[in-house]
Amino acid sequence: MSLPPHWKEVGGEGRVHRVMESTLTARDRVGVQDFVLLENYTSEAAFIENLRRRFGEKLIYTYIGSVLVSVNPYKDLEIYSKAHMERYRGVSFYEISPHIYAVSDNTYRAMRTERRDQCILISGESGAGKTEASKKILQYYATTCPVTDHMSTIRDRLLQSNPVLEAFGNAKTLRNDNSSRFGKYMDVQFDFRGAPIGGHILNYLLEKSRVVHQNHGERNFHIFYQLLEGGEQDQLSKLGLERNAQKYHYLVKGCCPRVSSINDKSDWKTVRKALTVIGFHEEEDLLNIIASVLHLGNTQFGEGEDGETQITTEPQLTYLSKVRTSNMNSTSSHRLTHSLILHFKGRCPLSFEQAVAARDALAKAVYGRAFTWLVAKINQSLLASYKGSSSVIGLLDIYGFEVFQHNSFEQFCINYCNEKLQQLFIKLTLKSEQEEYEAEGITWEPVKYFDNKIICDLVEEKHKGFISILDEECLRPGEPSDISFLEKLEDTLGGHAHFVTHKLANGKTRKAVGREEFRLIHYAGEVNYTVNGELANQSVNSRTAGSVICQSDNQILSQCFHREEVTTQKRPETAATQFKNSLAKLIEILMSKEPSYVRCIKPNDAKQSGRFDEALVRHQVKYLGLMENLRVRRAGFAYRRRYEAFLQRYKSLCPGTWPNWQGRLADGVATLVQHLGYKPEEYKLGKTKIFIRFPKTLFTTEDALEARRPALALTLQTSWRGYRERAKYHRIRNAVIQSAWRGMKSRRKARRRRHAAEIIRKFIKGFIYRHYERCPENEYFLDHQRFSFLMTLVRNPPKSVLDKSWPVPPPSLTEASEHLCRLCMQNMMRAYCRRIQPEWKKQMEQKVVASQIFQDQKDSYPQSVPKLFVASRLGREFNLKVIQTLVAVTKYDRRGYKARPRQLLLTSSFAVLVAEAKLKQRIDYAALRSISVSSLTDGFMVLHVPSEDNKQKSDVVLQCDHVIEVVTKLATMADKKNKVNISQDSIKFAVARGKEGVIDFTSGSELKVAKGKKGHLLVTAPQLNPR
Ligand SMILES: Nc1ncnc2c1ncn2[C@@H]1O[C@H](COP(=O)(O)OP(=O)(O)OP(=O)(O)O)[C@@H](O)[C@H]1O
Ligand SMILES: [Mg+2]
Repeated sequence: MSLPPHWKEVGGEGRVHRVMESTLTARDRVGVQDFVLLENYTSEAAFIENLRRRFGEKLIYTYIGSVLVSVNPYKDLEIYSKAHMERYRGVSFYEISPHIYAVSDNTYRAMRTERRDQCILISGESGAGKTEASKKILQYYATTCPVTDHMSTIRDRLLQSNPVLEAFGNAKTLRNDNSSRFGKYMDVQFDFRGAPIGGHILNYLLEKSRVVHQNHGERNFHIFYQLLEGGEQDQLSKLGLERNAQKYHYLVKGCCPRVSSINDKSDWKTVRKALTVIGFHEEEDLLNIIASVLHLGNTQFGEGEDGETQITTEPQLTYLSKVRTSNMNSTSSHRLTHSLILHFKGRCPLSFEQAVAARDALAKAVYGRAFTWLVAKINQSLLASYKGSSSVIGLLDIYGFEVFQHNSFEQFCINYCNEKLQQLFIKLTLKSEQEEYEAEGITWEPVKYFDNKIICDLVEEKHKGFISILDEECLRPGEPSDISFLEKLEDTLGGHAHFVTHKLANGKTRKAVGREEFRLIHYAGEVNYTVNGELANQSVNSRTAGSVICQSDNQILSQCFHREEVTTQKRPETAATQFKNSLAKLIEILMSKEPSYVRCIKPNDAKQSGRFDEALVRHQVKYLGLMENLRVRRAGFAYRRRYEAFLQRYKSLCPGTWPNWQGRLADGVATLVQHLGYKPEEYKLGKTKIFIRFPKTLFTTEDALEARRPALALTLQTSWRGYRERAKYHRIRNAVIQSAWRGMKSRRKARRRRHAAEIIRKFIKGFIYRHYERCPENEYFLDHQRFSFLMTLVRNPPKSVLDKSWPVPPPSLTEASEHLCRLCMQNMMRAYCRRIQPEWKKQMEQKVVASQIFQDQKDSYPQSVPKLFVASRLGREFNLKVIQTLVAVTKYDRRGYKARPRQLLLTSSFAVLVAEAKLKQRIDYAALRSISVSSLTDGFMVLHVPSEDNKQKSDVVLQCDHVIEVVTKLATMADKKNKVNISQDSIKFAVARGKEGVIDFTSGSELKVAKGKKGHLLVTAPQLNPR
């Protein structure tokens, strides 16, 4: 890719760094990039010389502050690629060489960051490159702004609106092969993310006269030629057209239907495609309108026998009727007698000239309105569906100041428009300049400039202005004429410094102004306008024709010509007033936005690249007010820059600020300029910016920077090389360490894998040979089995003596396992015993005795096991030092079996039966022979004592709820553990000497004690656990 000359290539290991040369250092070779830096800024010659030098170097863009001056190169400079767009994206305005993309980007960023609507005003004379510039801006946004799928439709429509509008609104003129014959203001709407979401177009003053007449070497609007060249044959036949532009009067007035630089056929395809993208469905109706204009042009008139005008070309009428309504009634037909061409009876009451003029007026009206309709249609398709907050960038592509030999009403409107835009420019530029000084706290020095308000007032002032006089003249009763209008102008405006007529002028000027002319002294120069036909232009209104056309079946036409327009009694506005109003609206729109300016200049009239016609450029520099522009800009300070940017650029020039300034930016700049030796009158420090009054000061600084550069470059290069080598060394070192580490990791991993595979193999083999004698094949497996058995035991031994779980041992460890199990139990038991308390030990000992006596002998034994033995069962506390057991019992008399409640007290050497604190019976343990209990669940016990012993009262029959506890304790204390008899069915006991009693025991549902036959005591014990 070729690089623009202001980009240098700096190579380094094949990498290309594009480094932009400084704005200011490039000045010696190609002038200055910003005119405000021109030393001799008041000199027009210096200004033009700068333009010429840059143009010679193919540098077509130059700034005047924030205004971009663009010179048409008339050839593709290859500076509009995507890569160029990227370069300008997000880059500060002054940091990079001037370009239309810099303006586009700056405007876009201002819109996004400040959330303020923006507009870019593009002006210049025909062929200067306005439309191209506006297209470049649109393309920049289309390429660089973020878009979603849905938004891409809008983006495409925005781009495609251009070919359609150009087909219908552009034409080949002597100055430009693709001249826009209308003014265009386009709003592009962006959402909060900065994506294009919609648009709106306003069109101004289409040059309708071109529809019916073209100067020599010029053409009608492109669309006519495109249709004839590109349209399909059957389409043309349907429209009654032939593929030959020569056949149409409206197309041959300029004698050049074909132009080498224009390819109508391919343009037609582009237009059709664009119409599809826009979502256009009324194509047939639109083609009918284009065809009807051509047919109108071919409609001829002749003189009838009675001298009246007649239409002589019937075929055209046939086709024209297609465009119009089909059901004509007599009334409308009558009205049509005034609308000559559409008079189907063939006769016309107008004179020949009037008929021709009315025919042309109709053709112009139809085309003009269809064009306006088309713009509205495009606007519909660009309507944003997004309802959130949005901002707008407006693009104004409008005709520049024009001066011809003969200047008509249209030139007047164009120049009036430029006059208004100039006013806006002065207001906004001065205002913003002043605002900046105020914001920065700098004293503002008023600038002398020519305020063209006086000329704007001359044109538009109410009652006294040019347009008011024109309106008055057109609308007053009686026959207005151009001469009476001129006289009226002289009466009202005579004496105004900017208005001259032949009559008002004197001497030299009088010669220069014709009798049917008036001269306006515009801000950009003097222009003579002819009043010839002015009034006719204004007053021809298409009311009559409109009344017919609004009934048309053609959807577009019926929408263009409204019925109300025809029926209303209100006087229609003159073209001048309409233009004035639409211009006022435009100014209002522009005033509400932040403006940027692009001033386009045409280098030569021959459309040749590389040719710089100084006289022509001087003319434009004057008409565009560029010198004025520069003067305003330079009136204050030539150069201003934010502190951070200034410091960043020049900090290397002062040891105090190099390499970095740590304090406040303003102090840094002050230190820097002091070191540079700036004089107080040369600069001012604002709140955020430094303002430098003379370019010379800046150039000196820039030269110092240039001189310092080699040293800086050397330092940078050295540190860069050092950095690069260090980085390289680190890279290599890291790579070596990394690869060694990786190798080690991999080797370790491989080793582990090998080992694992070996173990698995051994394991499988061992499993297969597990039942064999120990051999090399199974030894690993068997060891592993043993190991894991032992480890299971270690990790999970039985927790208590009651836990009987034990892992299954491998066959080789069966014996060892048994030993271990036993050892483990013993160990646990020993530990248990060591832990046990004396009371609990006693309890256990008693329980052991109980089990020795009663286990499997007495039915109530199992229930007694969990119940602890206690010293007293009487529910009261006793001093149990002597008495060791105290329990409630029932004593049965031996003879009558009478039951008597007693307390049984056991001491260490005897037992005592007590009733109501009286000792009833004492049984010495020594005398106790034995104890008998039944095997059932009853609580009977018999204490056998020898009847021979007089101290004793023979055997004692007792019944107690805690028989096992009492018997156990008694047997222990009396040491009669072996003397406890457990009888199955009956117990015999001694009643008195030689006499015996018997207790019979049976099992039953509940405890019963009764006297049975033979004097036996019958005890029925509840059956709990049948044995
Ligand atoms: N930046 C550019 N690079 C290359 N060629 C350009 C550039 N700008 C303009 N041109 C050439 O100049 C011709 C005229 O430009 P353009 O149509 O934009 O002029 P204009 O100012 O819109 O004129 P008019 O007022 O007649 O519409 C273009 O067709 C193109 O050939
Ligand atoms: Mg144009």
